[in-house]
Amino acid sequence: MICLTGFVTLLLIFTAEARVGDSSQLNFCSETEQCLLFDSICNSTTYEVRHYESVKWVSTDYKSLSMELMMFQSFWRLYGYITGENEEGKKIDMTAPVLMKIPEKKIFQQGVFTMSFLLPAEYQNNPPQPTNKDVYIQEMPAMNVYVRSHGDMMHTFADKKHCEELSSALRPVNAKYEKGFHYGAGYNRPSWNKKCHSEVWYVVEGDPVCNNSEADDQNPEP
Ligand SMILES: *[C@@H]1O[C@H](CO)[C@@H](O)[C@H](O)[C@H]1NC(C)=O
Ligand SMILES: *[C@@H]1O[C@H](CO)[C@@H](O)[C@H](O)[C@H]1NC(C)=O
Repeated sequence: MICLTGFVTLLLIFTAEARVGDSSQLNFCSETEQCLLFDSICNSTTYEVRHYESVKWVSTDYKSLSMELMMFQSFWRLYGYITGENEEGKKIDMTAPVLMKIPEKKIFQQGVFTMSFLLPAEYQNNPPQPTNKDVYIQEMPAMNVYVRSHGDMMHTFADKKHCEELSSALRPVNAKYEKGFHYGAGYNRPSWNKKCHSEVWYVVEGDPVCNNSEADDQNPEP
């Protein structure tokens, strides 16, 4: 019985760890050793549907008018955490993507932006606590997301443009997703002279919609 429990626990640890893994498994994730992995559910011509398992991130919130005004400060808080501002004084490897939870808001409105670094597999179960009170560990639940990939660095106008493209692709197929925020995922260090890979994500509500033929089966909304 004890052996069995041990085995099941071990299995759970492995399943959890398997979702933060070797970057060689993702061709667009090449600047860090470990990346966030996912299961691909389906692709339409304009977007992708992925499943992410629950994983832990180190995060910081910042109330701001725009992404540009919060990015550096947030980045340095999280960078502080991975370079030793944690209760064990551990140096923790950088991973990808850097995730931004971006509020859907009017351009001159303030909103809370959340930047997160993914914890490497070896810290997923027992992350050292941050010493900076503005930094916290969070476990994001498992989720399905609608994804659109693009080659721009993350900034307000690129983000807005690609989100609009994604939402216009989702509208005709009647795909439901959580409103009020979206995610921006960046896989590269900032640099002007190289190709980069970024993504916008909407969190799927209900069953993911993969293509038009499926949406045709659904009753149109009044
Ligand atoms: C969707 O497209 C991606 C990128 O081209 C590919 O890696 C993935 O396997 C595809 N997924 C499915 C379910 O076909
Ligand atoms: C659309 O989805 C249906 C049902 O899931 C599937 O049978 C069909 O092959 C898909 N078509 C395309 C073009 O992906």
